[in-house]
Amino acid sequence: MPRIGDIVGRTPVIPVLTLAGAPDGIPVARALVTGGLSVIEVTLRTAGALEAVKAIAAEVKGVTVGVGTVLEPAQFEKAKKAGAGFVVSPGFTPTLGAAAADAGLPYLPGVSTVSEALALRERGFRHLKFFPAEQCGGQDFLRALAAPLPDLLFCPTGGVDLAKAAGYLTLSNVSCVGGSWVVPPDAIAANDWARIEALASKAAGLGRGVASPPQA
Ligand code: 3PG
Repeated sequence: MPRIGDIVGRTPVIPVLTLAGAPDGIPVARALVTGGLSVIEVTLRTAGALEAVKAIAAEVKGVTVGVGTVLEPAQFEKAKKAGAGFVVSPGFTPTLGAAAADAGLPYLPGVSTVSEALALRERGFRHLKFFPAEQCGGQDFLRALAAPLPDLLFCPTGGVDLAKAAGYLTLSNVSCVGGSWVVPPDAIAANDWARIEALASKAAGLGRGVASPPQA
């Protein structure tokens, strides 16, 4: 089982997907992987989300599919059974931490304050989701944490687009960026997999240490 650091270190962008079910999930995941984004997160916000994760894990070559919006301890085992490679939650509770350890899945918990980051650091976490990033101080907030907390790496998510992602990726304490902009709901509704592949390709091209935002 890879560690969460290996997973977030593999990609500049983790697309955040909200899917009706497997029929949408497979072509969306294939378009993302073809575009260059092989680490994806499916949120547990729809009845069909776990079914989509299961289908993607089984049928899409080269993908690492994680489960996001995990709020309940029981969802870790469900994610594992569906074939998820990692789990993301918007925040953290000790109960969620225990469930993550029991499931043995790589886990990216969310924080939005310094004290939350310190509490997770005390528990041994070094990779954290920063959520909701744009609403909680964005790039300036993370830049200010780099000196006092140099051993923490963040995945800012929430309100991020291609240009903002490029900015975050210039920071020394950003491992990757998460966001739904790569998978617009209207592109899914129109079965426009080429558009999703093109958006993924732009996101995959960001890399890290980008000096100036690319053209959107
Ligand atoms: C998440 O689920 O992690 C975020 O809600 C994604 O945020 P975005 O839709 O603003 O990119």
